[in-house]
Parts: sequence; C-alpha cells; structure tokens
Amino acid sequence: MRYSYATHLECSATGERHDITHLQGLSAAGKPLLARYDLAALRRELTRAEIDQRPAGLWRWRELLPVPDARHVTSLGEVETPLVELTNSTRPAGFVPPIVKDEGRLPTGSFKARGLALAVSMARSFGVRRVAIPTNGNAGAALAAYAARAGMEAFCFCPDDTPEINLSEIALQGATVWRVNGLINDCARLVASGKERFGWFDMSTLKEPYRIEGKKTMGLELASQMRWTLPDVVFYPTGGGTGLIGMWKGWQELAALGWIEGPMPRLVAVQSSGCAPIVRAFDAGAESATPWENAHTIASGIRVPAAIGDFIILRALRETRGFAIAVEDADIERARREVAAQDGLLLSPEGAATYAAYLAAARAGKIAPSDRVVLFNCASGLKYPMPPVTARMDLRRPFEDGPLPQPLPRA
Ligand SMILES: Cc1ncc(COP(=O)(O)O)c(C=O)c1O
Repeated sequence: MRYSYATHLECSATGERHDITHLQGLSAAGKPLLARYDLAALRRELTRAEIDQRPAGLWRWRELLPVPDARHVTSLGEVETPLVELTNSTRPAGFVPPIVKDEGRLPTGSFKARGLALAVSMARSFGVRRVAIPTNGNAGAALAAYAARAGMEAFCFCPDDTPEINLSEIALQGATVWRVNGLINDCARLVASGKERFGWFDMSTLKEPYRIEGKKTMGLELASQMRWTLPDVVFYPTGGGTGLIGMWKGWQELAALGWIEGPMPRLVAVQSSGCAPIVRAFDAGAESATPWENAHTIASGIRVPAAIGDFIILRALRETRGFAIAVEDADIERARREVAAQDGLLLSPEGAATYAAYLAAARAGKIAPSDRVVLFNCASGLKYPMPPVTARMDLRRPFEDGPLPQPLPRA
C-alpha cells in the first residue's frame, strides 16, 4: 500500500496536468490547482470498512491526501469533529432538527487547522522555510501553530479589525503579525508583493493546492460519520470557499471509490448581506463574481470581497442544485444568542450565519421539512466577542439587590 495515492495536479480551469513532486502555486493559467489521485487502484486496495477501523481524525484519510510519507506529517491532534443536533433551538413546525458539525473542537479552535496541517506538511516536504498568509484571523492562527510545529517562520497579514484573540494567538504562536488598514484582498496583495524580496511561500487560499485537500476531510468525515450516506443539504459559511469546494471534491472521490451512492447534498453558500459577491453572482446566473464594494460584516471569516475560486464555488452550487443566500448581521447575532441559550452550543458568527440562513431558507420553502440538514460551525464561539456581564452580588447583603430568580413552585 502506498502512503498517498496522489498522482498529479490539475488546473481547475483548463484541466492541464502539473507535476505534484515540485512546489506549486497557481497553474500556468493562473488558476487554482487541484490534486488528483489514482482512485482506480485505491478502489482495489482499500475498503471503507478499513477506514472505519482506523483511529478517527484527519490522518485516517492519508491515501486521499497528498502528503507523500509519514515523515512530513505535521500534526497537533486533528480530532474528528462531532455532529450536534439542535433539538431545542427554534425551527419551523414539522422540520427535523438540523445538525451542526462543530469544527471549533480542532487544534487552534477552527477548521483552518485541517487546511493548514496539510499545506504546512506539504511545504515541509518541499523544504520550505518561510511562509506568509493574508488572513481574517483563523487561518493565520492555524498557520502560526503548524509552522511553529514544523520549525518554519510564518508571516501573517490581517485586516485592522480582525478579532483581537486571533491577532494574539498568532503572535503567541511565534509568527510575525501585522494589522493592515485594508481588507483581506489588500493583505493578499502585500503577501504577493513581498514574495521575491522576503522569500516566503504564499499560503493564500487556493493559491497553493493543498489547503483544499485538508478542508476536503470535512466532507469525507461527514460521510463516514453518517454511515456512508450524505445529508440532503449542507449550509456552509462561504468566504474564499475552500471548504465548500473541498467537500464537493471529496464526495466526488468517495463516489468514484464506490463508497457512497446517490445524489450529492445540495450545497448552500451562506454569506452576510454586507459582503455577498457569491450570492449576487449566483442570483444573476453569472459564472464568476464581481468584487464586492465596501465589504462589512461581524462575521469576519466570510468578509471576502473577491474569491479566486468563485467560478468553482458557483459550479458546485449549480451542479448540486443548491443555492446561495445572504443574511443580515442582526440575524446572525440573534441566531448566535439563540443557539447558545437554547442548545448550549456557542457558535462563531459565521456558524450562526448558517443557522440564520437555514431558518430563512425553510421559511422561503427552499428546503423541505424532512431534509437532513448539516450546518457548519467553522470556529469555536469562544474566539469572538461575547456580551459583558454587569450583575454583581455583595457578600455583605446577599440576595438583597438586583433581579433574583423566582422561588421554584413546591412539588
Ligand atoms: C469561522 C470561519 N468560517 C468560515 C470561513 C470561510 O471559509 P472558506 O474560506 O472555506 O469559505 C472562515 C474563513 O476565514 C472562518 O474563519
């Protein structure tokens, strides 16, 4: 058995083959490269039952990942993330409870660990010593952590108003971090322009081929957790779209292996109404998106005015008969409060956006009551601002001031 069954890289726009044994960024056509595998051989040599018997987590999928051998694996303990049913939170009458895949349990508290574990492992296998990234926060935190683990230097460029905790965790994990007075696309330009001068490798979303391979494990994992079936609908908070494209790619690979059958889940790209380029392009029937002006939203992870993989995201939505939907920031905040208070699950604003979108889609008749729905919470809610607590109690006069609970009625 080979460790990895990866064979080559393929241009997502032209299909042109690229060598997988060299360090690669974008394709010759300037588009994202996708890793391809010898699925026919893997189908003969591995069964899904063998996968089920391995320890859970990202590396159980090693044949479907590009890392050539175990020596280069850079790991911080990438667990299988749980599926949590929202049994208590409001849902329209007759609807089955949606399920949250809670990616906040991963190292560095977000799904970015999946992509950066792979990208750093691959960069390490090619002898890269310096890496740089434009980041809304979580990707930078994951890059800093995995780069530290691999003994690489990391440089992170964040928009000014990136959540404080992200900036601090990046710095504490040994990376160099700057606040930039612009958005993520401006940060991306800085990374690209410093490449020659500072000799760093560009780890931007989809500008290297391996982050998407890590993110694809969300889809592989979902299939094995659901006993090799897939949900009917998946709501995904979409910024650069790596996770959405990655899952779609992963399911196609599982189908080619004969490990899953039937239609793909309908993919739903969730954005904020303050930055919704994919929703606008989807609704207009366009094949690519135009950049969003004056992007703003409290869900910083999905504040991406222009995504390099826009054309693949749109293709994934259409081919799976899915759709794109935007929600207001006020609805995101309400959703976050509701799920925390009623189901005890602390979502990130991006995760809360998927729940708000689910409610809106259900009300609009875009999903059916019996649909098995999975919502992605891509980061731990603990990373984001929470309401301050102002109530105080004075030990000298306990239970005298302020609001108190009503006594329980006698049994
Ligand atoms: C919490 C969170 N959700 C969603 C996203 C968007 O992810 P993707 O780039 O896969 O669309 C991000 C990206 O920064 C994020 O941090």
